[in-house]
Amino acid sequence: MTGCLWPCAAATIATTTAAAMGSGTGRRGWWLFQSKVRCPVDVVRHSRDLLSNVLEDREACSNNHDPKREQKVMADLRKSIREMKCILYGNGDAEPVTEACTNLTKEFFKENMNTLRLLIVCLPYLDLETQKDVTQIIANLQRQKVDSRIIASNYLEANKDLLDILMSGYDNVEIAIHYSTILRDCIRHQVAARYILDSQHMKKFFDYIQLPDFNIASDAFRTFKELLTRHKSSAAEFFSRNYDWFFSEFNFKLLSSPNYIIRRQATQLLGDILLDRSNIPVMICYVSSKENLIILMNLLREQSKAIQLEAFHVFKLFAANQDKPPEIVGILSANKTKLIRFLADFSLDKEDQQFEIDKAKVIAEISML
Ligand SMILES: *[C@@H]1O[C@H](CO)[C@@H](O)[C@H](O)[C@H]1NC(C)=O
Ligand SMILES: *[C@@H]1O[C@H](CO)[C@@H](O)[C@H](O)[C@H]1NC(C)=O
Repeated sequence: MTGCLWPCAAATIATTTAAAMGSGTGRRGWWLFQSKVRCPVDVVRHSRDLLSNVLEDREACSNNHDPKREQKVMADLRKSIREMKCILYGNGDAEPVTEACTNLTKEFFKENMNTLRLLIVCLPYLDLETQKDVTQIIANLQRQKVDSRIIASNYLEANKDLLDILMSGYDNVEIAIHYSTILRDCIRHQVAARYILDSQHMKKFFDYIQLPDFNIASDAFRTFKELLTRHKSSAAEFFSRNYDWFFSEFNFKLLSSPNYIIRRQATQLLGDILLDRSNIPVMICYVSSKENLIILMNLLREQSKAIQLEAFHVFKLFAANQDKPPEIVGILSANKTKLIRFLADFSLDKEDQQFEIDKAKVIAEISML
């Protein structure tokens, strides 16, 4: 308990009060908090003890069941988690104190203490507000530096199975959004993203994106997109190793989905992937396939302007390819007149010079066939 002179709330309130009232009255803020506020390290330790309690209670189930005690633990835990959030994010107009954040982060990621694991495992048992606080705390901790190193990344590298637990959240409606949000924060670290990209989890995203619950499905899509676009080198490696099954699923389940939103998001993501410099080999492979071209031509004919435009950004790559395989040339020239007429009429609501330039190039390419 020593070395705890500057707890977040008390410190900031004391200084802001002092600033507002002139020095000397600064101590006035203290008495309110003195008995309650703990220093960052103690807040983490206390939370950890309470979380272990919660877990033991759950595992013990009916034996020793004491609802009164459980309620008290929960209330205490809620407060403790709120305190952590206040240290990391500041409180109202009080900015967070760097040293307090550093101390908290160090204690949080201390080896063999499992604080993050306990929080993730216990998350389903907490109330909604506390779950949101936890999500924010974990997001913040992913960015905190200790001695100019981001220690969250090292922690995740040593505890990769936590990512499996987070992935399992998609099967549980109650927790899916929270786990998905936390997972997205974790894959800011390349080591975590690479672990998921190398795992069987990637296959499951195609089902999660089609879940009937719209919120979960779109959150799963956001995580999926992040995995495939954030860390360029890892994503490029993933595409080259998993090209066949991945794009076959992508075409069949996403681009050909009966759901408009899935088709639109997927078409846009496909453009993001294929137009990225780090994915040039993948792009060349993709635009050499007849099946892919047919899917994109169908998307060009969609009712929705948004999908048409996203599809155009991919379609132009088929046309621009200077080394078109005969089957691609075959389809494009068989549909030459229709395509040129369509493109000539295809305009956007607002002016877009790059689009007009691209369109002219595509028309020229197809006319030459
Ligand atoms: C942070 O930890 C150091 C070393 O344990 C301690 O001296 C300092 O008072 C702590 N600072 C805060 C804000 O808790
Ligand atoms: C392209 O042309 C072929 C042959 O004329 C036709 O069967 C096919 O439906 C056309 N494809 C599209 C997407 O319009």
